[in-house]
Amino acid sequence: MRLIHRVADLRAALAGQHHTAFVPTMGNLHSGHISLIELARRTGPPTAGPIVASIFVNPLQFGAGEDFNRYPRTLDADCAQLAAAGCDIVFAPDAAEMYPEPQTFSVQPPLADELCGQFRPGHFQGVATVVLKLFNMVQPRYAAFGKKDYQQLFILKAMVRQLNLPIVMLEGETGRAEDGLALSSRNGYLSAEERAEAPRLYRLLRVAAQQVASGVIDLADIEAGVADELTRHGWRVDYIAPRSRSTLLAPTPEERDLVLLAAAHLGRTRLIDNIECRRQALKVP
Ligand code: PAF
Repeated sequence: MRLIHRVADLRAALAGQHHTAFVPTMGNLHSGHISLIELARRTGPPTAGPIVASIFVNPLQFGAGEDFNRYPRTLDADCAQLAAAGCDIVFAPDAAEMYPEPQTFSVQPPLADELCGQFRPGHFQGVATVVLKLFNMVQPRYAAFGKKDYQQLFILKAMVRQLNLPIVMLEGETGRAEDGLALSSRNGYLSAEERAEAPRLYRLLRVAAQQVASGVIDLADIEAGVADELTRHGWRVDYIAPRSRSTLLAPTPEERDLVLLAAAHLGRTRLIDNIECRRQALKVP
């Protein structure tokens, strides 16, 4: 496995490759990231090209007062995991390589002010801009992203479609700890007490998804019920939102394929999670 820091060296290493598979990350890797490497490897054709992972903590996607400075940087450990998973190239540029001049062009994605965007202004603009730059640097045929960042994945798929990028998007299921907590680099911020409390978020989403599927509850009651329960246990809720899977907007009464999205703070740590569910058909009187 090669570790490359400069765009020119990356381009030289990938010259003539048409089936590169790409896994963009911010590092501090866990088994959820590694499962994306495996997904990329499984998906390539028999003549599969190289697998490239990037590691870059992107300042553009962090707001003032967010965790950019304390975000864990663990390049050596990340490289060891990537090598063991069969990654061919790690691209780890520094900020000057990624942004050699002020980034005055940016991608303005749809839904950028919705859900997480409402609480993290500029976040999805920063994500879409860096991912488009990374796509232009790596020129992958396949790119893998996890469904834990559901809104990010939705926005990036729209970017690929609407900007005609010749990239097949691969979607990895959310990796979870045994108690259900979605794997995230930010879980490392949790105290022991918070870590014990954290699985409540997914537990409540699962119950809510079952209620949606069996049609026993109104969607507004789901939002209020999950939010109240979290608040009672010391969380600060940003949102609990049932959305249409096809638009990520509030579902019309006819829409049945839904996703319940959630973001809430436990102490100083902001956790997100989601669960897909299928609403029972409305009974026509
Ligand atoms: O999901 C992440 O780790 C980041 O948002 C990404 C896609 C690598 C862009 O910085």
